[in-house]
Amino acid sequence: VRADLVLVNARLVTCDPRAGDGPLGVLDRGALASDAGRIVWVGPERDLGSAVEADSGARELDAGRRAVLPGLVDCHTHLVFAGDRTHEFAARLRGEPYSAGGVMATVAATRAAPPEELERLALARLDRFLAHGVTTVEAKSGYGLTPEHERRLLEVAARLEHPVDVVRTFMGAHVVPAEYADDPDAYVDVVCIGMIPSLGLLAEFCDVWCDRGAFTPAQAHRVLRAARQEGLGLKVHAEQLDHSGGALLAAEHAAVSADHLEQATPDDAAALARSRSIGVLLPGASMMTGTPFAPARMLIGHGVRVALSTDFNPGTSPSENLQLAVALGCAQLRLTPEEAILAVTRHAAAALAREGRIGSLSPGAVCDLLILESGNEIDLAYHYGVNLTRTVVKNGTVVL
Ligand code: NIG
Ligand code: FE
Repeated sequence: VRADLVLVNARLVTCDPRAGDGPLGVLDRGALASDAGRIVWVGPERDLGSAVEADSGARELDAGRRAVLPGLVDCHTHLVFAGDRTHEFAARLRGEPYSAGGVMATVAATRAAPPEELERLALARLDRFLAHGVTTVEAKSGYGLTPEHERRLLEVAARLEHPVDVVRTFMGAHVVPAEYADDPDAYVDVVCIGMIPSLGLLAEFCDVWCDRGAFTPAQAHRVLRAARQEGLGLKVHAEQLDHSGGALLAAEHAAVSADHLEQATPDDAAALARSRSIGVLLPGASMMTGTPFAPARMLIGHGVRVALSTDFNPGTSPSENLQLAVALGCAQLRLTPEEAILAVTRHAAAALAREGRIGSLSPGAVCDLLILESGNEIDLAYHYGVNLTRTVVKNGTVVL
């Protein structure tokens, strides 16, 4: 095959168990070739010469025996918002519990912000995601909560010009806005009739928060049904603060993912395993709200495939460091390092309906790579709290 980029001298962590050793498909002395932004060949370095014909101007990257992973995938973020909730965090540390009500403070600041400011803030956040080796970020709306403001947030997300790919999710059903406090069902009508049918290509997924202080299962069901009719992929913020039925609802609708799951039960896990919904776990939100961590081992024991994400948002987890989610996934959720690495690559890609296209190093996948400072990928979990990114390649081009 022909190639315009060749990577040599790498410990290749393909995240494709068919391609190498162990659950991460590791090739200890591996090489990779890409052409026009796509991976065209992966294999042991000794086979490179016979398999790949590099173009005369091809770029050669020498990983110096370091670990090379797929560009990381953050499959659950609330990227676009304005305002500041540090005071709310400080109040929690004085004993106030976290509640869904805080969302309205961000909604007020976001509605008041001009689009250029929302764009500038989101781009700075994408810079920080990229700095941590993330090449794809999901971005939810949900801090607008009117037809105009929700649309505006998705439009801002669609306009972002940045090496990091942004996958858009409509979350008009984040909480019931204060204006509808007396009649939440009327707001659900606005979401189902006044927002979802006119989204067009602005969103690929629809998410809804089913919880105490957010939406009931009956209301969330209506949102998911309306979204499915428009051909949107489905996601549910489920079982975060209370056990409210969101996980079973996600399973019933064959949602692509059920996210949070801190209060999930074995029945929930069995249903999510059957519906093949990815369980997206967000240990940063548990840590920063002082609430329980998700029962990750129980979920995996029932056959749920789990992903890890930052849950980047102003209320519960304002961090773009997905590597820290890997460390928390191991230290607090008791994932093995291999499980935690799959949870920010292959399984995170599956949570965005992109398994095989991103999140693994295999022929046909997009050439998004992360070269670590370390020769051992387990350092992502162990050498915690620091950024181990050395080089990032996006679509076959070195971007960092
Ligand atoms: O994922 N759970 C719902 N939404 C966010 C927090 C929203 C907020 O407090 O602004 C989350 O944790
Ligand atoms: Fe969230």
